[in-house]
Amino acid sequence: MVAKKIKGNKKIYGTYSNRDFNEPIPENRFPETGMNARAAYELIHEELNLDGIPELNLATFVTTWMEPEADKLYMENAHKNFIDNFEYPQIKKEEERIVNILSRLYNAPEENDFTGTSTIGSSEAIMLALLAHKWNWKIKMQKMNKDYSKPNIVFGADTHVVWDKFAKYFDVEPRVIPLDKNTMVANPEELIKNVDENTIAVGAVLGTTFTGAFDDVKKINDLLEKLKSEKNIDVPIHVDAASAGFITPFIEPDLKCDFRLSHVQSINVSGHKFGLVYPGIGWLLFKNRSDLPEDLIFYVNYLGDEMPTYTLNFSKSGSNIAAQYYNIIRMGKSGYKKIAENMMDNARYLSERIKEIDNFEIVSNARHIPVITFKQKNKDNFTLFDLSSKLRSYGWIVPAYSLPKNADDTVLMRVVIRESFSNDMVDLFIDSLNSAVDKLKGNNKAIKSVSPRKGHFVS
Ligand SMILES: Cc1ncc(COP(=O)(O)O)c(C=O)c1O
Repeated sequence: MVAKKIKGNKKIYGTYSNRDFNEPIPENRFPETGMNARAAYELIHEELNLDGIPELNLATFVTTWMEPEADKLYMENAHKNFIDNFEYPQIKKEEERIVNILSRLYNAPEENDFTGTSTIGSSEAIMLALLAHKWNWKIKMQKMNKDYSKPNIVFGADTHVVWDKFAKYFDVEPRVIPLDKNTMVANPEELIKNVDENTIAVGAVLGTTFTGAFDDVKKINDLLEKLKSEKNIDVPIHVDAASAGFITPFIEPDLKCDFRLSHVQSINVSGHKFGLVYPGIGWLLFKNRSDLPEDLIFYVNYLGDEMPTYTLNFSKSGSNIAAQYYNIIRMGKSGYKKIAENMMDNARYLSERIKEIDNFEIVSNARHIPVITFKQKNKDNFTLFDLSSKLRSYGWIVPAYSLPKNADDTVLMRVVIRESFSNDMVDLFIDSLNSAVDKLKGNNKAIKSVSPRKGHFVS
């Protein structure tokens, strides 16, 4: 967040914490003296209690619960700086194992020298992947004695904001292809029409942020093969599997959208989404060591050993890596599959329940990942933005937003079904949804619950 300047000299007074300190503290200036630990804890605890309840946050893909054993490992490793490899070689070893595990999960050919790194999240992973592709493209153009001042990158308007950020921060022309209203992703033919010899990569998303839809990676790959054989233009695909990377390999293992495809050279996934680890952990994988230019690897030796790094930031805690490794060995493929199937069942149940409400029409229905979107069917006297704020008064956090270009006349509401969202909670949510709609329509009577479970609706 870009924090704003706060004027004045506002003071903070605690509630229970007042028992232990008498002087209020300045809100935006360093306090001259401290306070006792209990009071400091209590003051911050009270303040943060006003945040939304993570379990009722249906907006986020990010993990809000881990097993107590994972919590324990998380705390045990919070004070280890991951980058201090020489001092903490074991946590580095776990990172290396996870890179190997995920590369094989995404079907990197065994004969390849695949590689990768942990990151703070998918955003860092995507920036690093695209930077590597930009570098490779530049080297290729230099070798051919061609101009390398105008790189471009081709992706759909359905991609996450990090794709635009990369283009801006790393000075690459973004060629953003509008959505096809039927598929809710960019049309593959349109994507490839925009590729030329200055294209550093084509982006494909597995689970768009807007609707959870998948790009047709196989089709994009086929079209790039054709382009290569007809025009000798050879462009890699980066697959953004931020959400689906811990779902698809378990429930749709035969869907070819990974390293099995010839042009897919790099993949990212968020460990803190369906990888089931607290934020911030992401993974970046390259199909070949040669896809990661040696020039971009920095060898640092001031912490002991000579260590190759490919990251945007330096220090981070070892906690997330320990927790990721815990989840992988604790659950195995069968455990992740079971959780994914359960989330998909609950998502489809939610979709069925939403269909029962006259006002709404389902737009995307958990085809590949547990995400449901719906829009208004009729001209109501309220908008989905009104509904979103009304639902907030029941504790539910559900975003409403308009789709990108070409479909920007459509406003959607999105629900992400995470492991913590049981079918029981689906019923509770539907009761709140019915009640909120009723109130917004000006019909203030408490509505009758339509859920199979009675007696727990909020009105
Ligand atoms: C498709 C997609 N890509 C990238 C990101 C950014 O991921 P992160 O929050 O891990 O940086 C997201 C986040 O929701 C996403 O949905």
